[in-house]
Amino acid sequence: MARKIAAGNWKMNGVEADLVQVDALAEAVAAASCDVLLCPPATLIAPMAARAGLMDLYVGGQSCHAAASGAHTGDISAGMLADAGATHVIVGHSERRADHGETNEDVAAQVTAAIDAGLIAIICVGETEAERDAEVTLNVVASQLAGSIPTGALPAHIVVAYEPVWAIGTGRTPTLEQIAEVHDHIRSELAARRGGAANDIPLLYGGSVKPGNAVEIFAVSNVDGALVGGASLKASDFGGIIAAL
Ligand code: G3P
Repeated sequence: MARKIAAGNWKMNGVEADLVQVDALAEAVAAASCDVLLCPPATLIAPMAARAGLMDLYVGGQSCHAAASGAHTGDISAGMLADAGATHVIVGHSERRADHGETNEDVAAQVTAAIDAGLIAIICVGETEAERDAEVTLNVVASQLAGSIPTGALPAHIVVAYEPVWAIGTGRTPTLEQIAEVHDHIRSELAARRGGAANDIPLLYGGSVKPGNAVEIFAVSNVDGALVGGASLKASDFGGIIAAL
């Protein structure tokens, strides 16, 4: 049985003053029956981790370079994230794939780097609206999984997040049946390569999760939690999602 995770992705939002939202989460985190993780911009990882250490909150990065160090201006290595206090890192988010041209191969190399640095990698997959309309969602997700997860990665070191691109930040979500179909497919694709150990890999749903729809989404087959964007920025919203899990 995979552990449950409520993860927040602040994306390119937040300055030091916004860390009051972390303090305001203390009660929700203390009452949580799941792991709670926030992934702020890299500039806030260290100060957020200092506050998170006072409660049972994990802090993660939003991306990492595949190399450990070197001439890669503007990039951050997995080891640097760990050094700043991160325990997790999101890789292969559709915004990275679209804005920075990251391929499945790039993502797999980042996962390896993350694991080597002692981080848990949250690997994002998901179809575009055109792919859903063309009814190739399950194929797209299966090929992203096959290409983005290094074969040697142990279940304890990875999390998979299903984020339909068209549901991100739009207020639109797939039906519960559509979420179940994709999550069941992800579980069986993982099981085809890893057998029963695949059951230990948490599968998160991401895309317009809010306190108002979290309960029904968390009740869906093979949904072990959420990767939340906009609604993770305010403690009142994210606290509601944590409580729903
Ligand atoms: O990584 C989380 C994300 O892409 C979902 O964003 O704002 O739709 O919850 P949002």
